[in-house]
Amino acid sequence: MSTSDEYKDHDTSRNIVWHHSSVTHQERIRQKGQKPVVLWFTGLSGSGKSTIANAVEVRLLNLGKHSYLLDGDNIRHGLNKDLSFSDTDRIENIRRIGEVAKLFADSGLIVLTAFISPFVTDRQQIRELLPETQFLEVYIDTPLAICEIRDPKGLYKKARAGAIKNFTGIDSEYQPPLHPEIHIKTEENSIEACAEEIIEKLRQLGYLEGEK
Ligand code: ADX
Repeated sequence: MSTSDEYKDHDTSRNIVWHHSSVTHQERIRQKGQKPVVLWFTGLSGSGKSTIANAVEVRLLNLGKHSYLLDGDNIRHGLNKDLSFSDTDRIENIRRIGEVAKLFADSGLIVLTAFISPFVTDRQQIRELLPETQFLEVYIDTPLAICEIRDPKGLYKKARAGAIKNFTGIDSEYQPPLHPEIHIKTEENSIEACAEEIIEKLRQLGYLEGEK
């Protein structure tokens, strides 16, 4: 399966034709000895998405797996620095990351994405963009009250004071996943325990075969 399978080869109206690469998806996978997948982390700001995704990546590295973490705050410094936090721009943010994640997965990597990605339909669209076995939704479930107490970047305080508009959970909606493949409740568990739970789930689902 290659990325072109998900798109039309010809976009005649715009004179664009898909260019097929000589190195196939299967060859890339074989070379890396792993099953590519996108681990799509979603949750409120301050829920622990980036921190837990980081801890998962360290474990994957130690297991000899090739991965890459796409992180919301970081991507908004570069690729998506033109986007705001309006609903429309959040949708575009997630659409672009879905496309990038798809390319990375096509290259054979295990991709971790850490974006609030607040809307169910956007996350569903990413799921549909990828082969069925290459998308796992990871819900980092931390109640708003806890995120607000943690407030690692001081943003909830600013949002409550009215200094930040459209802040997720305050005056912008967060829609939790309905059926996430992995559901992590962070309230009573350490970062390490949460990361281990995700690794264990990946193992059960057969994504870590051939681990070192
Ligand atoms: S998303 O909603 O479009 O998926 P994304 O994950 O890229 O959001 O960025 C969220 C990060 O941007 C938060 O962790 C926070 O640090 C910062 N941020 C700044 N303004 C806002 C806002 N209005 N709502 C949510 N997060 C914000």
